[in-house]
Amino acid sequence: MNIVLLGAPGAGKGTQAQRLVEEFGVAHISTGDLLRAAVKNQTELGVQAKGYMDAGQLVPDELVIGLVKERLGEDDAQKGFLLDGFPRNTAQAVALDSELSEMGRDIDAALLVDVASEVIIERLSSRRVCRDCGYTGTAADESCPRCSGEMYQRDDDKPETVKNRLDVYESQTAPLVEYYKGHGILKSVDGDRPMDVVYADVKEALAL
Ligand code: AP5
Ligand code: MG
Repeated sequence: MNIVLLGAPGAGKGTQAQRLVEEFGVAHISTGDLLRAAVKNQTELGVQAKGYMDAGQLVPDELVIGLVKERLGEDDAQKGFLLDGFPRNTAQAVALDSELSEMGRDIDAALLVDVASEVIIERLSSRRVCRDCGYTGTAADESCPRCSGEMYQRDDDKPETVKNRLDVYESQTAPLVEYYKGHGILKSVDGDRPMDVVYADVKEALAL
């Protein structure tokens, strides 16, 4: 199972990925999570990426593409991967295709989790993430339902940054829907329904 998850900020890519990983044991490659870990650990990449992320802009392609190439080469990614938040523009999509073809691998499907922007703003203002295990929940979770860790709000979930992220999505990432349609591998689910209903549709769309 080699899948690309597409969708606006807050569409539920991470939420659905979490479930697929638990049920099917594939590698979850979220560039957002990898970059946030780099920022937290103050690595060279993290220092370079932080300003872009805080502003809701894309981190430069050369930094992100290198990160994904490295991650795709790790052991757990050999039996399948879920790319979440990558590619984010056409240059990244082309780089991914060429890297996978060098590895003798392919993308089985690009799955769009489709949600209107009004719903997104509401969701992101109430999103909370576990500091310890990375579980994604909402403001209703006082502590992490998985590990009891502390839940926090992402810096880029503030309203002014969310607006930039949505603009960047529309101008740079949304064109990938046509890109993957052109490759004959686009699938789509309506992400504006309860999480379990979306998940059932995700599995159906991916023939799982
Ligand atoms: P990234 O971390 O990828 O953020 P994003 O794409 O903006 O997506 P999100 O993680 O915000 O949303 P999601 O779709 O995962 O939604 P979630 O499941 O959490 O990127 C962050 C930054 O890193 C970027 O701005 C950029 O700077 C940089 N970056 C990352 N990748 C890059 C790349 N490739 N190139 C360059 N820069 C890059 O759900 C959201 C909320 O909704 C949660 O609270 C959840 O509980 C709730 N929810 C989910 N599904 C449902 C449902 N069905 N019904 C009700 N609520 C729901
Ligand atoms: Mg996410």
